[in-house]
Amino acid sequence: MSRLKGKVAIITGAASGIGLATAQLFAAEGAKVVATDISEDALARAVEEIAATGAEVLTHTLDVSSPESWKSVVADVTAAWGTIDILVNNAGIALAKGLLDTELDEWNKVLAINTTGTWLGMKNVIPSMRTAGRGAIVNVSSLGGIISGAADGASAAYSASKGAVRSLTKHAANYFAGDSIRVNSVHPGPIYTKLIKNYGVTKEQAADAANSILPPHIGEASDIAYGILYLASDEAGFVTGEELIIDGGYAAH
Ligand SMILES: NC(=O)c1ccc[n+]([C@@H]2O[C@H](COP(=O)([O-])OP(=O)(O)OC[C@H]3O[C@@H](n4cnc5c(N)ncnc54)[C@H](O)[C@@H]3O)[C@@H](O)[C@H]2O)c1
Repeated sequence: MSRLKGKVAIITGAASGIGLATAQLFAAEGAKVVATDISEDALARAVEEIAATGAEVLTHTLDVSSPESWKSVVADVTAAWGTIDILVNNAGIALAKGLLDTELDEWNKVLAINTTGTWLGMKNVIPSMRTAGRGAIVNVSSLGGIISGAADGASAAYSASKGAVRSLTKHAANYFAGDSIRVNSVHPGPIYTKLIKNYGVTKEQAADAANSILPPHIGEASDIAYGILYLASDEAGFVTGEELIIDGGYAAH
């Protein structure tokens, strides 16, 4: 299990769901994991388990929408491990409101975390990758960033924020390919994490409501983590600007 042996990987939103599954998988594949999240307590609980396996893990409280917060993480990681090989911009929030019902402060908050947070992550980490002459970035968008927000609670702000992540990914891929920095996006369909649990639905109810054609009709966080692992690893060395949909056939349907 050494698909990421020795690589330093920053993961945002690593205290829960897809981010936590990614941190666990990366650690198992030999990466030095920098697990970050806005929730300090949840993060501490989450990484205890990973550290117990003997993996190398650093934790850092990070609000992805804060430029100062990003500067502090990058400075600490560079001081500790000298380099940043992988960035997974995973942190995100949902909002189950359509275009007419969304208030300006709600719109701004979703965009600040999902879109601005992804941009700030790349803005702060890419200079270090450029110096090293290599890097892999995986941005977690959504199926809702491609086929409308129906996949994620019919949210206008969420869809817009994730559509922006999709196009920002292609911009970055194009702009930094010359530095051997690869940038790809992952587009999950419905995955039973806190993001969906917060709506008060059981896994069975969420599966019934989903249009994924593959049983059990709702995915696990690990289903997405495996896709992120591939794009972050050297196995995807000739892959950039791509969008990997992992949705149990939702979009095909
Ligand atoms: N679960 C799904 O069905 C689904 C579908 C499509 C896309 N996604 C995307 O996957 C990503 C991960 O979501 P999840 O399903 O694991 O949800 P989750 O709620 O389980 O995890 C999200 C994590 O992000 C953290 N976070 C929230 N705001 C933050 C901020 N400002 N700074 C740093 N961390 C912050 C939370 O504390 C939490 O630990 C999100 O970008 C989400 O939009 C999820």
